[in-house]
Amino acid sequence: MWLLGLLVAPAVVLAFQLPFKVPFLKNKLDDVAAAPPRIAIIGAGAAGSSAAFWISKAKERFGLDLEVDVYERSSYIGGRSTVVYPYDDPSSYSPVELGGSIFVAANKNMWRASDEFNLTRTQWGDDDARMGVWDGEQLLVSVGGSWWDTLKLVWRYGVLSPKRTEHVVEQMVKQFLKFYTAESPRWDNMTDLASSLGWTELVSRSTADFFESQYIGKNYVREIVEASTRVNYGQNVDAIHALEGAVSMAAGDVAAIQGGNYQIFEAFIRASNASVYLNTTVKSVTSKPYASASQSWTVESDHGSKTYKAVLLAAPFHSTGMTLSPLLTSQVPEQPYVRLHVTLLSTTSPSIDPEYLNLPTTATPPSMLLTTYEGARNGGKEPEFNSISYHGKISDDEWVVKVFSQERKSDEWLRKVFRGQVGWVHRKEWDAYPVLPPTTSFPPVKLDVGFYYINAFEPFISTMETETIASRNVVDLMLNEEFGSSICGPRISASSERQLSLSEYYFPSRYPDNFVLGWDC
Ligand SMILES: Cc1cc2nc3c(=O)[nH]c(=O)nc-3n(C[C@H](O)[C@H](O)[C@H](O)COP(=O)(O)OP(=O)(O)OC[C@H]3O[C@@H](n4cnc5c(N)ncnc54)[C@H](O)[C@@H]3O)c2cc1C
Ligand SMILES: *[C@@H]1O[C@H](CO)[C@@H](O)[C@H](O)[C@H]1NC(C)=O
Ligand SMILES: *[C@@H]1O[C@H](CO)[C@@H](O)[C@H](O)[C@H]1NC(C)=O
Ligand SMILES: *[C@@H]1O[C@H](CO)[C@@H](O)[C@H](O)[C@H]1NC(C)=O
Ligand SMILES: *[C@@H]1O[C@H](CO)[C@@H](O)[C@H](O)[C@H]1NC(C)=O
Repeated sequence: MWLLGLLVAPAVVLAFQLPFKVPFLKNKLDDVAAAPPRIAIIGAGAAGSSAAFWISKAKERFGLDLEVDVYERSSYIGGRSTVVYPYDDPSSYSPVELGGSIFVAANKNMWRASDEFNLTRTQWGDDDARMGVWDGEQLLVSVGGSWWDTLKLVWRYGVLSPKRTEHVVEQMVKQFLKFYTAESPRWDNMTDLASSLGWTELVSRSTADFFESQYIGKNYVREIVEASTRVNYGQNVDAIHALEGAVSMAAGDVAAIQGGNYQIFEAFIRASNASVYLNTTVKSVTSKPYASASQSWTVESDHGSKTYKAVLLAAPFHSTGMTLSPLLTSQVPEQPYVRLHVTLLSTTSPSIDPEYLNLPTTATPPSMLLTTYEGARNGGKEPEFNSISYHGKISDDEWVVKVFSQERKSDEWLRKVFRGQVGWVHRKEWDAYPVLPPTTSFPPVKLDVGFYYINAFEPFISTMETETIASRNVVDLMLNEEFGSSICGPRISASSERQLSLSEYYFPSRYPDNFVLGWDC
């Protein structure tokens, strides 16, 4: 659709590309209440913190007078992206990610934010790391980076399956990068977004189905691709949709922020000047007709009530415990999340016990152990975990390790796997990501006038980066509908100045390569 955009007349383009309503000329009296209009953001994770940041960009560029309050139930900024310290000792150890850990170079908002906020990126993937795939009974694959390993892989899977997988992922990433261009789709309906990106088939078929339809070998899909969907989303290839399957396989230039990714989200909040209320749980949001025709929203938290012109919900709806009118609630379908058990531990064992993997005692198990469900599908034993990964040394002879599993791992189990050499243990249960079955129906991005739902994006793709993209879209939508503006200017105004901004909008080649929509406009 964005390609068509270059060819057709601006008015048509406008109708096609921007599902946003062109706002009616506002009754200025509405807006000139004594105080500037207020926006409430519920949640201070990737979505909420970046939403505050995008609003501040519009304020900074166009002098919009808006006050922003961010409500956060917990005591920190970052939500599902947060860190803990080995032995709970920040003075002796570097932090370890407890939730969202990595992003890739194609994640341009995270990348750009780390540049702008002077945060240090650590590149991931150390050369000695060995990766293995375990099926619950045997180690199917174990590879490092040598030519011999490559040969073993080729022997098992051939050359075409990896190549074709790469092709699927490349096509997906190519489309994904459109989100950062000036002609990025804007959407108020996720189904339409999927279709405009040519992703309807990807979201409506399972990863196994779709990848196999691309003539990618069944073994490769069920072992290698599944290892990826299981470590990234705790779901198997026959259950998770192919868009998220492809996202799972998109590696290359993997990075994390030294000291914790949450610092990006703190920096978003700091740069935004928004007021943040930590330890403050939103209990309900109710609509209250303004004196005039337009609407306002009352946000009631455990610290009192306040009235807003717009509300951005930046948390999974069903996790908020909030009360909304049935009219709003009924629009958001039940969304189960994957209950993930994260166990962080330190160990003096340089690898897991080879005997646990039915290997000879002299063998060195891989430092990154992934899993496939294929053994279990064929009547074998189910793996007892989704992944076990060594994350580097915390002292001369002690490593920190992450275990992801569907169930709690007992101390006894940990002792067995790590040869009795377990030091610090930290357990966390997360509602980590949505259960992501193939579908073409998604929650609404907008629940009512002035009430938006950023995490409607999650059943589509669930990552830190995509939450910052979803928030950019929602902020644009909200600024358009409520203030006749947008992050990059009042381009969709009812005035006749449309031509200039549209030309700017539709000719991305005038921008340098590193153009990132929202940052560079
Ligand atoms: C173990 C794990 C590993 C992951 N790995 C990766 C990874 O490597 N890369 C990646 O990109 N993503 C990863 N993810 C996913 C990523 O962390 C999430 O997609 C992203 O952080 C979600 O951000 P969010 O702001 O949408 O939601 P959240 O981070 O969940 O933020 C929502 C916030 O809203 C608050 N809130 C909820 N209800 C209320 C209320 N009533 N009142 C006030 N506040 C409320 C919550 O406390 C929370 O802070 C991982 C997630 C987990 C759990
Ligand atoms: C939030 O609560 C925690 C623990 O109850 C407390 O340590 C912290 O100081 C509180 N933070 C704020 C900003 O009130
Ligand atoms: C980042 O560093 C540059 C150069 O040292 C400096 O100009 C800039 O203000 C810094 N930005 C932030 C957000 O600290
Ligand atoms: C944030 O607040 C400071 C001080 O009040 C002000 O100087 C600055 O311009 C504000 N920045 C934004 C983006 O609103
Ligand atoms: C999105 O649009 C589709 C048609 O393209 C429609 O069937 C669906 O109900 C819409 N979804 C929402 C949440 O409005």
